[in-house]
Amino acid sequence: MSEPAPSTPAGAELVSDRSQSPMWIFVLTLTLLYLGAVYFDRHSGWFDKDVYSPYANAAMLESYQPKSGAAMAAAQGRRVYEQVCGLCHGADGLGKPGQAPALAGSEWVIAAGHNRLAHIPLLGINGQISVAGKGWNLGMAAMGASLSDSDLAAVLTYIRTSWGNQAGEVTADDIKNIRAGLGGHLQPMSSDQLLAMPE
Ligand code: HEC
Repeated sequence: MSEPAPSTPAGAELVSDRSQSPMWIFVLTLTLLYLGAVYFDRHSGWFDKDVYSPYANAAMLESYQPKSGAAMAAAQGRRVYEQVCGLCHGADGLGKPGQAPALAGSEWVIAAGHNRLAHIPLLGINGQISVAGKGWNLGMAAMGASLSDSDLAAVLTYIRTSWGNQAGEVTADDIKNIRAGLGGHLQPMSSDQLLAMPE
């Protein structure tokens, strides 16, 4: 057996040495906590899932930001398409049996010019029409009045450049001119009337 530890000398008191924490450490700690809270409040997004997911980091989020005017126009065209046309023509542009013909691969959509194409949503179309070798005999109401020049141009550009279609852009000025040329004509077009006008 070892010797017992020496006991506290008689008369000595056990006193902790905490008397000398200077006031400035206390103030500094509070200030840092406060600044941290302010930073968190401004930049954290409060861990909201709409802020954080599905982006794992800032670079990934950045990659989703529109880069150019062309990319923004494409996003606009897609939005209008999905809100207005996709219901009948399908999100994939393949059309729906008994409901609407395909836009993917349609000669009306990928024509060299966009004059006939623009008349279709501007005035509507009725009766027999041949699309990529298939006959249809339905009707599509006019939807031009409710779309701005810029929205209609964007959606026509979208259908001319999606699903493998590779045709030229349509600008808001193009639509403005075609709209101005309609005069009083507001009846839906027939396929023959469309074919009689410049492509
Ligand atoms: C309510 C359903 C419906 C909506 C919405 C609709 N369409 Fe159509 N669309 C049709 C039908 C039906 C036809 C065929 C009409 C016929 O048989 O005469 C057609 C024909 C067409 C054609 C010519 C044929 C072809 O497939 O290429 C184009 C181009 C076209 N639509 C574009 C559009 C665009 C652009 C929009 C949106 C701005 C749109 N459509 C919205 C039903 C619709």
